[in-house]
Amino acid sequence: MPKERLKAPRARLFVALDLPDHVREGIGKWGREALADPSLRPVGAESLHVTLAFLGSRPEAEIDAIAGVVRESGGPAPWIELLDPLQRPPRGRARLYAIPAISPGAEALQAGLAQKLVEGGFYEPEKRPFWPHVTVARVRSEARGSRRPAVVADPPGALPKGLSEAFLGVRLALYRSEIQPTGARYVPLAQVELPGAGWQ
Ligand code: 2AM
Repeated sequence: MPKERLKAPRARLFVALDLPDHVREGIGKWGREALADPSLRPVGAESLHVTLAFLGSRPEAEIDAIAGVVRESGGPAPWIELLDPLQRPPRGRARLYAIPAISPGAEALQAGLAQKLVEGGFYEPEKRPFWPHVTVARVRSEARGSRRPAVVADPPGALPKGLSEAFLGVRLALYRSEIQPTGARYVPLAQVELPGAGWQ
């Protein structure tokens, strides 16, 4: 293979279902107290989402075609209901805290999107079933260079009442994840608004 091909630029990509601003702000506000344990790195309100397909590192040359698939994968805005946060993995030291999302509509969108991405050769589906969730915090490592997560003495409790009311997901978005010293930054590359979400 010629050397230039080996060096072709790549991008870390994923497709997400975006949450309405009031929900992202509500989780952010709740998290200021609930995710205050020093072992936690809360996800910023602007970065909260439901991941539908994590594509991993793909050649940048594929981005236009993947964006096309995302634009074709829209559908009616799905209802979403949030449950109280839980830790992952479920036993032992937590690596992250996530809010599970109940949403048959999001599952349907994910299935259609995943099928089209697989057909295009852009995505290898996960073996485990799709688990809709919003990651709200990751756990810092115990020590520099260690892969073991630190102990979280004060894990997050229940969500406030306002956040347990169902809402509609607003758009599908293709994101590029840029790893920076301060954490990951998610840059939207393509978006499709989901009909019905506008009124909320
Ligand atoms: P998470 O919400 O479960 O942490 C950007 O990194 C998004 O892609 C995150 O929301 C993350 O999901 C998801 N993601 C990152 N790495 C992943 C991996 N190896 N497999 C599946 N999803 C991943």
